Amino acid sequence: MPRITAPDILKMKGKGEKIAMLTAYDFPMAKMADAAGVDMVLVGDSLGMVVQGQPDTLRVTLRDMIYHGRCVAAGLSRAHLTVDMPFMSYQVGPRQALRNAGRLVKEGLAQSVKIEGGVRSAEAVKMMVDAGIPVVGHVGLTPQSVHALGGFKVQGRDAAGQERILEDAVAIQEAGAFCIVMEMIPAELATRLTATLQVPTIGIGAGPGCDGQVLVCNDMLGMDMTFKPRFVKHYAQLDDVIRKAMKGYVTEVKAGAFPTPEQSFA
Ligand code: KIV
Repeated sequence: MPRITAPDILKMKGKGEKIAMLTAYDFPMAKMADAAGVDMVLVGDSLGMVVQGQPDTLRVTLRDMIYHGRCVAAGLSRAHLTVDMPFMSYQVGPRQALRNAGRLVKEGLAQSVKIEGGVRSAEAVKMMVDAGIPVVGHVGLTPQSVHALGGFKVQGRDAAGQERILEDAVAIQEAGAFCIVMEMIPAELATRLTATLQVPTIGIGAGPGCDGQVLVCNDMLGMDMTFKPRFVKHYAQLDDVIRKAMKGYVTEVKAGAFPTPEQSFA
């Protein structure tokens, strides 16, 4: 089956077809997402939080992203693979961004890269696009700026903030991004931006008016039911399922009930 490309994603907006994006960090999750019909799989730097147990995404390295990119690519036969550019892999300047985006494509097997920031990242986006690397933008709440923003908060609550987000999205579109993730912004603003922009918008905490949606796979699968921000919907409660299965295993090992002759070799 041919892999979904950046131009395919762009065309989905024209056809009014919603885009389903999900994060994945390893081979089995990527394989399941692909089989489930997910259009775009994102190796998000959220892996710093959900895989590495860090409080934010700031410690994730380019090597981490390359490693997880390769693991995820091995599980995909249809879905488009986007890999995040981690903190300080592009902020130094457009040439640094281009070099590192190239590594994510060559070594991390990305079909496109995602970069946070609007106006401030536009030059880097243009350089990557000119080099033939498709780019996904990311505006609104940009988690790599968590310290400057004062936490993981909804952005664009006032008129000035909304104007800034509009300028950011337009700058990234003009620089050549083929779609833009919008994180934690008011639903009305996201709907307005979706109508204004030619490229697809993919929302997370941005309401139903976007061209597509993205969620962190661990969140939507309920791998930690104590984590429930407003924009997450739990489609399963896997933390309970996994805990029960592990408890059953421990109980049987302690009681000598596992393995039985059925799981043993004569
Ligand atoms: O890192 C990530 O998973 C992301 C999504 C939340 C969009 O950037």
